[in-house]
Amino acid sequence: MDRHWLVNDRLAVEVRTLGAAVNRVVARTTAGEVDLLLGHALDSDRSASTYYLGALVGPVANRISGGRFTLDGQEHQLVVNDRGNTLHGGPDGFSTKPWEIDQADSNAITLGLVWSDPSGGHPGKLRAIVEYHLTGGELSHTIKVTTDRPTLASPCLHPYFNLAGSGTIKDHVLTVRASRVLFTDETGIPVGPPVDVAGTPFDLRQAARLASVLDADHPQIQAVDGLDHAFILDPGEGPCAVLEDPSCGRRLEVWTDQPSLQVFTGAGLAGDVNGLHGRPYPDRGGVALEAQGYPNAANRSDFPAVRIDQDHPFSSTTRWRIVA
Ligand code: GAL
Repeated sequence: MDRHWLVNDRLAVEVRTLGAAVNRVVARTTAGEVDLLLGHALDSDRSASTYYLGALVGPVANRISGGRFTLDGQEHQLVVNDRGNTLHGGPDGFSTKPWEIDQADSNAITLGLVWSDPSGGHPGKLRAIVEYHLTGGELSHTIKVTTDRPTLASPCLHPYFNLAGSGTIKDHVLTVRASRVLFTDETGIPVGPPVDVAGTPFDLRQAARLASVLDADHPQIQAVDGLDHAFILDPGEGPCAVLEDPSCGRRLEVWTDQPSLQVFTGAGLAGDVNGLHGRPYPDRGGVALEAQGYPNAANRSDFPAVRIDQDHPFSSTTRWRIVA
């Protein structure tokens, strides 16, 4: 089986075994069925895409500088796949593999993957498990990774939302509970310590229309044609991020135990392969909200560690609450 649907009276969610991807989230609205997530009609397009639409990326999400890291005094070299860095697990990462369905019904599915790096660069034999649960308007996912030796693991899900079901996300409004953000070099690697967002276009603590952020006169925004930055989540009650489309009133809340949220506003999507509806999405056709560890944590002792071992597996839960 290459796919499975979770279904209730509010949402239908298609999970693909390739990449354990959440390929569709369809809301049953008064205006009919609306796709809230970007995905692919064909697995061959998923394999050819470089955008990881809805995929579970790992073992380490985001970038590892130069694909190099030192673990317990030993140096490791990964295969690089993005401007000299290893991005989202590299060319043989979790998202490129068919996962096994361990258990499935209409409310929940568990998929598993046994993974080791064919290049030998990433230590260990890893076992990853993801559980998706649909309850009312809430879709949660719990990702767990165990290993047979010390290694790095910090996977995440890579969903792009568009609550309007088509067009761009420019008129969406985004709130992120983050008083600090990581600025990056020209290859997407964080430089320096987290920066205070106060007085910058990165201050999303009050809801901001994405168009005004994307058009802001700020070198970090111009360099990547929008947002492609890790927001360092502040502790606190409630969702870490809220996305709304004022024109249709739909709303998404993101709740997570992860320390940062990468916000990527979909620059370059138009150049990608076909999406769900047989053609590529437009630039800014979706906004990726990725709850994950800090980028390049493998090489930054000042960032929360992403090391796991036999006694300290990875486990993390993120929930999306959808009002459609
Ligand atoms: C994001 C990453 C972007 C881009 C995108 C799609 O997570 O931050 O730079 O690579 O994935 O590939």
